[in-house]
Amino acid sequence: MPVLSNSFVIEPEATPQIETRFRRMQTPLPVPESLETLRRAVAVFPEVNCYQPPVIWDRAEGASISDPYGNRWIDFTSTAVLTNTGHGHPRIRKAVARHVEASGLMAQFSFASEIRIELAERLVSLAPTHCDKVYFWTVGSEAIECALRLAREHGRKIADDKFHVLTHEADYHGWTLGAHQISGTSAKKGWLTTPDSAIHHVPFPRIPGKPASEVDWSAFLAANLATLAETGIESGQICAVFIETLQGWGAVPLPVEYVQALRRWADQHDILLIFDEVQTGFARTGKLFAHEHYGVRGDLLCIGKGVSSTLPVAAVLGPAEILDLVGPAEITTTHAAHPVSCAAALANLDIIEEENLIEESVRKGEIAERELLALRDRFPDHVADVEGLGLLRGIHIRNPETGEPDPELARDWTWAGVKHGVMLFQVNRPSIKVCPPLVIEDEALVEGIRALGDALQSLQ
Ligand SMILES: Cc1ncc(COP(=O)(O)O)c(C=O)c1O
Repeated sequence: MPVLSNSFVIEPEATPQIETRFRRMQTPLPVPESLETLRRAVAVFPEVNCYQPPVIWDRAEGASISDPYGNRWIDFTSTAVLTNTGHGHPRIRKAVARHVEASGLMAQFSFASEIRIELAERLVSLAPTHCDKVYFWTVGSEAIECALRLAREHGRKIADDKFHVLTHEADYHGWTLGAHQISGTSAKKGWLTTPDSAIHHVPFPRIPGKPASEVDWSAFLAANLATLAETGIESGQICAVFIETLQGWGAVPLPVEYVQALRRWADQHDILLIFDEVQTGFARTGKLFAHEHYGVRGDLLCIGKGVSSTLPVAAVLGPAEILDLVGPAEITTTHAAHPVSCAAALANLDIIEEENLIEESVRKGEIAERELLALRDRFPDHVADVEGLGLLRGIHIRNPETGEPDPELARDWTWAGVKHGVMLFQVNRPSIKVCPPLVIEDEALVEGIRALGDALQSLQ
């Protein structure tokens, strides 16, 4: 039977026929007419690019995605949690077209231009007050690499042995060499012939079965640091802690007291607290930046995705004294702060402000939470938990027989959800992510979550 990578069978299966204001399912999936296109994809793309549900994206608008065969989905992916202001927002389209038509400036490298400076100034005005410079990149992983380099330069200035980096187990920070090593998943690291032995993954602040409010998080941190000290690494040797501001796989926040304890400890030892806001920034969680939920300062912020909601642009935001630690021509790339991306990002930031998307993310997040809790109550054996903030939500899935986390069920449920008219992506973890564009209509949000219940029911 033909298979799309090792994830989804390319064999048309019946879908429920659905016609609502937001969803239209009128063919089997995969669509028989699309099989040739899917086979071409499998032939030409490496397997790593072929693990998402076998549907063809053709058009997208707001929180809606359509294929060329008459099917239409409510988008719960925001692509990969990036289209915060929705797909193809007219203002972003116009801004991009205007920039291209008016200036013809479609490549720039490290020269100055008005649009790039304007975006940097805008980001500085939005960032916490101590962040007065913007180190631009193209994708989130590069921003993480840059922050790692800056952290090490910061440490080197203080002491020769201050180069150790902490991060949490199960964090995700990207796939480039440094970002992959900072990521806390131990899986798939066999290719690293000389892993960076100064990157350490400490336990994520969560104790199974124990409510966060009953844990002394300062003591939890102290215990982890004591374990590290037993291996010869003292706090004075640590230059930075990277924090995935909510763990993306399941939209898992950290306990506020824990992050505050980290901040106090970092201040005592001149350690940089680096928030990875690549997925969580720009109103996604109901704040402009998700670390605001913790009430602490981040020394550096890594941003990407939702900066533009569309074209690639990423950055490290921070104080000049840190961002100026690398000299001219030391680390830059050809496409950083691409002028067309800057045009898109400026329009995107206007939309976030003018359409009140921070407030909308809070309000719609409450609707999502209510519906997801109802889903958990409907399927208590399959849904271990639902978590998240704003419109970054995760359904944690367990095997109804064993009670263990169940990534296979998550995959099957994802596919069933797509067949019920809700666009989902495979996380490859025991979770389904619910992260629609922040502009989604309330009714579509409710309808989509309820359809996930129908989808699970169809698997029984
Ligand atoms: C938290 C986080 N950090 C970093 C990255 C890497 O960003 P990019 O895929 O743009 O390189 C991602 C991407 O999903 C992410 O979610």
